[in-house]
Amino acid sequence: MKITVVGAGAVGATCADNIARRQLAQEVVLLDIKEGLSEGKALDMFQTATLNGFDTKITGSTNDYEKTKGSEVVVITSGIPRKPGMTREDLIGINAGIVKGVAENILKYSPKAIIIIVSNPMDTMTYLAFKELGLPKKRIIGMGGILDSARFKTYLSLAMNVSPNDLHGMVIGGHGDTTMIPLTRLATYNGIPVSRFLSEEKLQQVAADTMVGGATLTKLIGTSAWYAPGAAVATLVESIVRDQKRIFPCSVYLNGEYGQKDICLGVPVVIGAGGWEKVVSLRLSESEKAAFAKSADAVRTMNNVLST
Ligand code: NAI
Repeated sequence: MKITVVGAGAVGATCADNIARRQLAQEVVLLDIKEGLSEGKALDMFQTATLNGFDTKITGSTNDYEKTKGSEVVVITSGIPRKPGMTREDLIGINAGIVKGVAENILKYSPKAIIIIVSNPMDTMTYLAFKELGLPKKRIIGMGGILDSARFKTYLSLAMNVSPNDLHGMVIGGHGDTTMIPLTRLATYNGIPVSRFLSEEKLQQVAADTMVGGATLTKLIGTSAWYAPGAAVATLVESIVRDQKRIFPCSVYLNGEYGQKDICLGVPVVIGAGGWEKVVSLRLSESEKAAFAKSADAVRTMNNVLST
């Protein structure tokens, strides 16, 4: 198994590190446009092999796509991240050009790869990749909902003072501060609805904290986060590589599912060796359905910017 991570910045490097530590591949290639950055980070990371107990080989590449040849999974994190006060949508102009160029280069050497899009605005970048690359839809997956769900479970655990590992919860819809939908009604503490433990007011606070989870970190750190994003991507990669058939909310191309067509948006999907294998349909309440439709409208408006 060979995995390429494009973008050796904060998220890409953390993602490669997680992939190596979990031994998901024989080789990880880290590619970046900045001279020397990916080689340096790859070597630094590979020097942790005897310390962290893995033998995945990590190599760097300054924009030489030949080195990525034959990758089975490719993660695209290249692009600019947001700064305090910016929305993910502010990044569209620059990142669209970067994602398109990178994806085309990748396909020249790895025509069978499953492509994971991380660059923001992620739903629009996933849609762009789907439209431009002409790949089967199941091989293009946008990662955002796994991260947002991890944040959701973290805020729930803080509010309930229980282990996040006993909590289940999903965030669907767009990967944006105002477009994501933390499904508080369906969240459980080992199968028991969390509404049994938290007041409606507290649950709404958890949902609100989740929605601005990324912005909160951007304000504190001065740029966007990387530990949880990198780990979230690796968790998605793991389900593909080990064919785990885990259910995660991912941004995928919809063709009528959840009442939406011609858009990439976060819905629960089964993730396995073939990429996203099927959409899982949840019985949403009327207000959740309305929130999903509103989220789709906002993402569609963003997608329209691509053609202007
Ligand atoms: P960063 O600035 O640390 O790294 C981005 C890297 O991309 C840089 O090293 C840069 O040299 C490289 N790059 C730029 N153009 C390139 C090209 N044409 N080819 C190859 N490499 C190129 O940024 P960070 O924090 O790693 O974030 C990366 C992206 O991921 C941003 O768009 C950010 O908004 C997004 N993000 C998405 C998340 C999600 O859940 N979907 C979570 C966190 C970040």
